[in-house]
Amino acid sequence: GSNSESKRGALIVLEGLDRSGKTSQSSKLLTYLEGLGHSAELWRFPDRSTNVGQMISMYLSNKSQLDDHTIHLLFSANRWEKRSLMETKLKTGTTLIVDRYSYSGVAFSSAKGLDLEWCKAPEIGLLSPDLVLYLDIQPEKAAERGGYGGERYEQLEFQKKVAKCYQGLHDASWKIIDACQPIEDIEKQLQEIVLDCVLTCQKGKPLSNLWS
Ligand code: TYD
Repeated sequence: GSNSESKRGALIVLEGLDRSGKTSQSSKLLTYLEGLGHSAELWRFPDRSTNVGQMISMYLSNKSQLDDHTIHLLFSANRWEKRSLMETKLKTGTTLIVDRYSYSGVAFSSAKGLDLEWCKAPEIGLLSPDLVLYLDIQPEKAAERGGYGGERYEQLEFQKKVAKCYQGLHDASWKIIDACQPIEDIEKQLQEIVLDCVLTCQKGKPLSNLWS
C-alpha cells in the first residue's frame, strides 16, 4: 500500500568484535534517524532485562557456568522472546537499530568449536535483517583500544576465532565498514547506507525470516 500507516520500519543490525565501536555508532544512528523525523528505537542483544537475559549476564560475568550448547540456546531464546514485539514494531513503522543479533550468536558459539549448522538452527524463523553493518576491525587493533571489561569472551585469542567465524556468515544484506577510520567518517558512511535501507523498506520491501 502507499498510505503512511503501511510503511514499515527497517531491521538494521550492527555486528562486529568487542570494541569495534558498534554501540556508539548505534546510538549515533538513532539520533540521526530521529532527527530526520523517523520513528526508531535502539535494541541490543543480549537483552539483559529479561529472565533469560539475567542468566546470560551471570554467565558472561563468570558468576555462573553453563555448557556451551546451553548458553547458545539461551542467547537464541533471548531473541525469540523479543520476536513478536520486533515484528509489531517494524510493521507499525518503527525502524530498529539492533546492536548484535543472530550473527553474534553463531560466530561466538562456533568459535568455541560448536557445529556451524547446529548453531544456525535455532535462529531459523527469526526475522531477517534488512541490513547488517559489520564494523570490521583486526582483533589486535580492537584489543589495543582497551576497555575489555573482563567479561568471559573479551580475550584476544578468542576474538581472533570469532573474527574468522564472522567471515563465513557474510551475505547480500551485509555491508563491511572499516572500523579503523575516524569516527565521523564511519558515522557518515553508516548514515548514507541506513537511510537508503529505511527508504527501501518504506517502499514495501517484504519482511523475511532467517536464514534465507
Ligand atoms: P554485549 O552485551 O554486546 O557486550 P558488552 O557487554 O561488551 O556491551 O555482548 C556480550 C557478549 O555476548 C559479547 O562478547 C558477544 C556475546 N554474544 C554471544 O556470544 N552470543 C549472542 O547471541 C550475542 C547476542 C552475544
